[in-house]
Amino acid sequence: MERTLCLVKPDGVQRGLVGEVISRLEKKGLKIAGLKMLMIDHALAAVHYEAHVGKHFYPALVDHITSAPVVALAVEGYRAVATVRSLIGNTDPAIAATGTIRGDFGLAMSRNIVHAADSVEAAARELALYFSPAELMPYQQALFGWIFREN
Ligand code: PPS
Repeated sequence: MERTLCLVKPDGVQRGLVGEVISRLEKKGLKIAGLKMLMIDHALAAVHYEAHVGKHFYPALVDHITSAPVVALAVEGYRAVATVRSLIGNTDPAIAATGTIRGDFGLAMSRNIVHAADSVEAAARELALYFSPAELMPYQQALFGWIFREN
């Protein structure tokens, strides 16, 4: 089982898409292990997006992510990192496939609704930025346990 970080970004929260995002993750069979709404300050944004410092879009990215509340989700399940990336779709909503969150609800790169960690290593790093260990709930989903007992 893997855990990953997914953020409903300010545009997703403002547009009332929090429920839609959570619903798609849950319907896929992924489990919400942690959930919180918060304002990202400039210090947290700088750490989260440190890999993009110096890129042309960095100021716009930080301006947006700090502009209004986000919802942080710790998402758990089989191959959760790749599965969540697949569910959210291409970074550019204009070319993201229909059926993905960005493909169905977005158009502009700067308002692409969600963020998700892009590797197992990034997921561990990003989860630690948003959740303490005590905020990640280690519960079992009895109804879904059978899926993974077959293998
Ligand atoms: S790169 O250069 O390929 O690593 O960058 P990329 O993965 O495409 O994007 C990194 C994050 O920057 C966001 N982004 C933008 N935000 C605001 N405005 C513009 N123009 C813009 N272009 C890229 C992009 O959505 C990624 O953020 P997250 O939160 O991971 O989706």
